[in-house]
Amino acid sequence: MANEVLIEAVNLSKAFGGLIAVDNVSLQVREHTIHAIIGPNGAGKTTLFNLLSGVMPPTSGRVIFKGNDITQVSPQRRAHLGIGRSFQITNIFPNLTVLENIRLAAQAMGKDNFKMLHLADNFRQYIDRAEEVIGVVGLEGREWVLARNLPHGEKRKLELGIMIACSPDLLLFDEPTAGMSSEQVPDLINIIKRVVEHRNRTAILVEHRMDMVMSISNVITVMNQGRVLAEGSPHEIANNPQVQTAYLGDLYGELA
Ligand SMILES: Nc1ncnc2c1ncn2[C@@H]1O[C@H](COP(=O)(O)OP(=O)(O)O)[C@@H](O)[C@H]1O
Ligand SMILES: [Mg+2]
Repeated sequence: MANEVLIEAVNLSKAFGGLIAVDNVSLQVREHTIHAIIGPNGAGKTTLFNLLSGVMPPTSGRVIFKGNDITQVSPQRRAHLGIGRSFQITNIFPNLTVLENIRLAAQAMGKDNFKMLHLADNFRQYIDRAEEVIGVVGLEGREWVLARNLPHGEKRKLELGIMIACSPDLLLFDEPTAGMSSEQVPDLINIIKRVVEHRNRTAILVEHRMDMVMSISNVITVMNQGRVLAEGSPHEIANNPQVQTAYLGDLYGELA
């Protein structure tokens, strides 16, 4: 695949006391791909995410984004550079409507916060953007519902909408199907695909639902005990004997 590398982990490690949660991981994620990270519980997937989004500093190693070393860059700054992470539901403003939540996200990332001219135009532009995002995540008709009154599945959509409204180049999804029923999963897959394909974005997806991972990913990295065990296309990973040995029950069970 010839796409440029968008984000890269170089010999990244993270220790919590004596426990090495991420152990010398090197990883390249290429532009316009959906790159899944899978592995058993405790493999270090979420910790790796935290290192990429800057939520915690690595013990050693570097993170390179668009060719720049961002290892020391704060999460807020990384967000402005184009790294979007789906926020927890608690970061939704419960007493604002769906539209307002998404508009605020678009506005917060707006490049023209300081331009006081054409304020009304800017406002309109953010509403347009919010409405477009509402279409992408399938919340049409729900614009005026207060966030706190949304059922769980729609809260997850709003959470995605808030991330998408920030127009990140890289979207990080950590178990986006958590708490979703099986019927809701295809919806979510389509949203992620739409965002990546039609907007030319890149996504890193940590997910344990193998059917979803296999159908949506271009590249899969398998982690085990903090390390990268294997990397390849869904087909390669499903047929990798090493992966099957380490990860047998789960992978087979869910693929079957
Ligand atoms: N903040 C933390 N403090 C101490 N240990 C942690 C912390 N976060 C994760 N761990 C430990 O690091 C290991 C990897 O965890 P995690 O990255 O959450 O794995 P995964 O997301 O693959 O399930 C686990 O043993 C976990 O208990
Ligand atoms: Mg995790």
